[in-house]
Amino acid sequence: MKMNKNYLNLQDSYLFSTIAKKVAEYQAQNPEKKPIRLGIGDVTLPLVPAVVAAMQAAVAQMSCKATFRGYGPEQGYDFLRQAIAGYYAAHGVTVDAGDVFVSDGAKSDLGNILDLFDVENTVLIPDPVYPVYVDTNIMAGRRIVYMNANEENGFLPLPNVGIQADIIYLCSPNNPTGAVYNHEQLKAWVDYALANNAVVLFDAAYEAFIQDETLPRSIYEIEGAKQCAIEFCSLSKTAGFTGTRCGYTIVPAELTVEGEPLRKFWLRRQATKFNGVPYVVQCGAQAVFGEAGQRQIKANIAVYQENAKIISGTLREMGVWFTGGENSPYIWLKCPSGMTSWEFFDRLLTECSVVGTPGSGFGKNGEGFFRLTAFGDKAATEIAMKRLQKLF
Ligand code: MLT
Repeated sequence: MKMNKNYLNLQDSYLFSTIAKKVAEYQAQNPEKKPIRLGIGDVTLPLVPAVVAAMQAAVAQMSCKATFRGYGPEQGYDFLRQAIAGYYAAHGVTVDAGDVFVSDGAKSDLGNILDLFDVENTVLIPDPVYPVYVDTNIMAGRRIVYMNANEENGFLPLPNVGIQADIIYLCSPNNPTGAVYNHEQLKAWVDYALANNAVVLFDAAYEAFIQDETLPRSIYEIEGAKQCAIEFCSLSKTAGFTGTRCGYTIVPAELTVEGEPLRKFWLRRQATKFNGVPYVVQCGAQAVFGEAGQRQIKANIAVYQENAKIISGTLREMGVWFTGGENSPYIWLKCPSGMTSWEFFDRLLTECSVVGTPGSGFGKNGEGFFRLTAFGDKAATEIAMKRLQKLF
């Protein structure tokens, strides 16, 4: 019996679990303190009324023999796939509902999609990055090359001539930096992927936070992207589904590798290893895309955008360098006084009772940087910023 020794190459603990442990220790030692959590990107506002009503109606259907449903299609119910395609159409992007695969979230799909690719492929990952892209490839034993995202390129690396890669991860608006690619920059990646027979795995989980209408919300706004890109999206941050779990992945019929359509293989993979998202949740997800749902989730997003303004306004006043916060719920700041990311984390936690995420947890280029999220409560965010301002 042999184990998958690639696991030995992982860091001992997932970033957000390490932080949760540190915060729990701090709370045990300081029971009177109630830390303000601006660390993990978890939403705080409840599901909107349109979603709740749709889910309640679905529960009522499930309680009656005539309308009860058992297994659904592994790739999601047509009503939801159509609603998602309609959402893209409303933003001027044509997506075939048959290319939409409903899942329990982007994180699972981003990990699971790797089943489709040979382990010999080289993976190109920006640094800093959402740790899931790195860890899932380490688990599989794939070669990873990193591209530097830094202050010089505004944390938006572009393809460079020397790079050879088969799988490319892009996330825009970016987690953790909040930076957003424009059309021209995304086109550079699509052109690179087409010229090098590479596949782009495009994480669009934060697209709903884009306020600047000139910025792309989907990689399919770029010509040629359907021949080289898979797009992952989630309702977690868009509609408060972090605990409810629903996302979707677009695998265009046009996307082939070595003459084989990836969509066919993804369907085969999902049908074998996944039994679909609960009917009740899919009904709630459908309501997100309806008229009332859209209006209501936009009101929630506006609350988070207001928090982002409070954070970025404070940093501006303090003269702290940062990215994000305008078209993204994340604010990526340079730690004051040359502190390391973890030094800043410890001071913020112990002296301000505020939790953030150390940039170094997202990769070596994250050292000296720090991520704050706008998903907290408005009053708590204001208090956190006042404490930060007082400390530095
Ligand atoms: C984050 O804080 O980076 C996200 O919440 C993690 C995730 O979406 O899995």
